[in-house]
Order: sequence, then structure tokens, then C-alpha cells
Amino acid sequence: MTTVGISAGTFALLPAAALLSACAGVQSALDPAGPHARETAVITWVLFGGAAVIFAVVMSLSAAAVFGRPRRDWLSSRALVIGGGIVCPVVVLAALLAWTLQRAGVILGDDDGPPAIRIRITGEQWWWRVQYLDAGGRIEFATANEIRVPAGEQVELLLESADVIHSFWVPRLAGKLDMIPGRVNRLRILADRPGVSRGQCAEYCGGQHAAMALDVIAQAPAEFTRWREVQRRAPAAPAAGVPARGRQVFLDAGCGACHTIRGTPAAGLRGPDLTHVGSRLRLGAGMLPNDRRTLARWIASVQDIKPGSLMPSFPDLPRQDLAAVAAYLDSLDPGAAP
Ligand code: CUA
Repeated sequence: MTTVGISAGTFALLPAAALLSACAGVQSALDPAGPHARETAVITWVLFGGAAVIFAVVMSLSAAAVFGRPRRDWLSSRALVIGGGIVCPVVVLAALLAWTLQRAGVILGDDDGPPAIRIRITGEQWWWRVQYLDAGGRIEFATANEIRVPAGEQVELLLESADVIHSFWVPRLAGKLDMIPGRVNRLRILADRPGVSRGQCAEYCGGQHAAMALDVIAQAPAEFTRWREVQRRAPAAPAAGVPARGRQVFLDAGCGACHTIRGTPAAGLRGPDLTHVGSRLRLGAGMLPNDRRTLARWIASVQDIKPGSLMPSFPDLPRQDLAAVAAYLDSLDPGAAP
């Protein structure tokens, strides 16, 4: 009997737990990590609270109308109809409109001042091209599917698209903004403190739209500056002890036609820049953990994992070559211990 009671109680709690779990986590707009997203969360809670109060009042009045016999004449009084039916909605909605329009300036970063850095992000089918710009707007270096930013500093994102309309959305940092071919949309973000926030393409852009995610990693400013220096200067250097075979397999298989690895002849621009691919958290635009085994699986059978993407599978690559190229790519991590 006790077991049944506990199970029933647990079962009843499940929907509540599911609802509450949406209030936290790396991709929740209700768990903001910066001032722009915090403003959205505040507006959300005010509107939700106000709607709950009004809902309760209307339900009480409805209950009075249905069950309040015989004394419910007051419900049809002129004062209540005009006050509750016209004056109240006009005043409440006008006040909310004025308040939210005023707060929208914070969300859009109207008073943010000049940004510490600018990053161009281009939506591709189905990944994110990330290019860090210098003060003159020239490209310093490129990476993909992962954005590193200094915590506590203003960052301006220049959002573009290479093909169809995508939408850039990192709920913990900012509202969503479309990436439109032929246009540059500007979005401000600022992460309060170091940590990871997850983003997701929020506009249907083709078969793998759902598999188009990214990580935004906020780092302490000094750490970020170090990372940026390494990216800016260092060509890709595999860790000591990694056989040169993997690099050769990569070049011989023609991977360099689409991918760039700085410091090697591979200079293709169609696919993600792989210069420091081993340092990224995930593979395939947020789909999979980034490790040697997954890299090998990805190369051999990307069309089974992410059908329709531009990269072909390499099922005929000999086993040893596959292992070697995966080891090589995995080693492209300037932060890894030698
Ligand atoms: Cu890109 Cu949906």
C-alpha cells in the first residue's frame, strides 16, 4: 500500500517537476546570465503574474455569476461593466505597453556604449561560422559552432546568413534575432560571469534545423585575452606524440577543399574552420560530444548522423587512417596539456 501511495504521489509531482525544470539550465530564458536576457525574464514574470491575477478575478466573477444566486444583480451594474470591461483593460494594457516599450531599450542595448569586441556570426546549413573582428572590422581568425566571450564585457554580434533565414537565439543571454541573407543584424550580449550558455537556431532552415546549436563560453577577461592571443597567432599545432599520419590522411582525402587548418595547406572555406577543433566542446553544431571516437564516427558516417549536410561520409577510409585522422583533429587543441 505504501509503495502505491509513494508512486502515486511521485507521479503527481512529475508534471510540476517537468514545468519547473524549464526554469533553469543552460538554455532557459528564465535563468538569465546577462542584463539583456534578465530584462526579458523580468517582463515575462510581470506579465505572467499580472495575467494570473486577472485570470483569478475573472474566474471569481464567473463563479459568482453561475453560483451566486439569488443575489448577483451587482454583476450587471453599470459601474462594473464600464469599469471592469472598458476602463480597467484600457488602463492596464496601456500601462503594460508603455512599460515594456521602455524596457525594450535595455533588451536591445540602446544605452550600452561601444562594445569591447565584435564577432561576425554567419548562419550556414547547418552550422555557425564565427569570425572575430579587429578594431578595423577585419577578420582576425575564424572558428565555428562555439563563441568565446569575455565575461562582464559588452559584445556585439553581427548576424548574417549564407543561405536561408536562420535565427540566432541564446536564451540566457539575449532575445532571438533573425539572420537574413544580404543583411547584417546587430545583437548585444553581455555575460555576467564565466560559464556556458547554449544556443539554438530558432527559425526553420531545412532538414537539420533542430541539429543547429552552439555554445557560448564566457571566460574571465584575462583568460579570454590569452585564448584570443593563441587563436590570433598560433597555427594549428598537434600535441606532441601525435603521429604525422593523421595530418597526411586529412590532406590526401581532400578535406582541405572545404576546411581550413591554419598552418597547413588546408584552406577551404565551405565548411567549419578546424584550426583548433580539438578545443571545442561539441561536434556537428552542438550534436555530439567532441572526442576521438566520436570524431572517427562523424567522419565515417556523417550522412547517417546528420543527413543532408554538405559533408560527405567517408565509409571507405581504412580503419587505421580513420583512427589517425581522428587523433590528429582531436589533438588540435592549444589548451591541451602537452
Ligand atoms: Cu538554422 Cu534553423
